Amino acid sequence: MQVPALTLVILLALLSPTQPCLSEMNKVKDLLEVNCTGQALSAVPPDLPADTGILLLSDNCLESLSTTAFLPLSQLEDIDLANNGLVALHTGALLLSLKELTLSHNALVTLPILEGLPALTHLAVAHNSLETLAPGAFRTVSQLQNLDLRGNKMRQLPPEAFAGLRALRELDLSDNLLKELPKELLQDLQKLETLWLSGNQLKTLPTDFFPKGRLFMYSCGSASYALF
Ligand SMILES: *[C@@H]1O[C@H](CO)[C@@H](O)[C@H](O)[C@H]1NC(C)=O
Repeated sequence: MQVPALTLVILLALLSPTQPCLSEMNKVKDLLEVNCTGQALSAVPPDLPADTGILLLSDNCLESLSTTAFLPLSQLEDIDLANNGLVALHTGALLLSLKELTLSHNALVTLPILEGLPALTHLAVAHNSLETLAPGAFRTVSQLQNLDLRGNKMRQLPPEAFAGLRALRELDLSDNLLKELPKELLQDLQKLETLWLSGNQLKTLPTDFFPKGRLFMYSCGSASYALF
């Protein structure tokens, strides 16, 4: 029995040679961009260039992932993990340079507390299956400027969902199942410029919903709110 099994392993190895991910300089961001898109990967390749700045891992099979996989990449600023069937993300490893994390089009039902990502400014978790957010869900990522939660299954949010997000400029909550929002939801969001709420089941917003001392305009058609 051992010989055929070994033969099969060799044959499989010959049939699917590991393709290295293509690397090239991203001239706009001045970072080395490594493209591992669509390679049926079930783990992060171990041999990525040490100076990887942008890592494209979308359209793979990374269903469960720990951010420790990115620890050797000390210049990593941007990770795209869209469309992987991701159900579990384990954070904790300290990734000091990571600014942008894309987790959109996955299968996350809950968002883990984002430990070890102190420099994160952009987070996209659009088109997952999030049902709600924990109070203080983003306290660990207080530099966040842009948060995309569009296209999830959130019916309600705790008043402290966005507590501590004092740098947040854009918040997208559109295409969820929200029926009402807590009055305190935007309390800490003193830099908020744009809030998208279309595609929910909201009839009204609480009085004094928007941070004090700010004018706002909104268009009913698109239900997006711009604050100045
Ligand atoms: C990455 O590679 C995929 C597949 O080869 C390709 O379709 C895509 O355009 C590449 N992306 C970038 C940003 O170069």
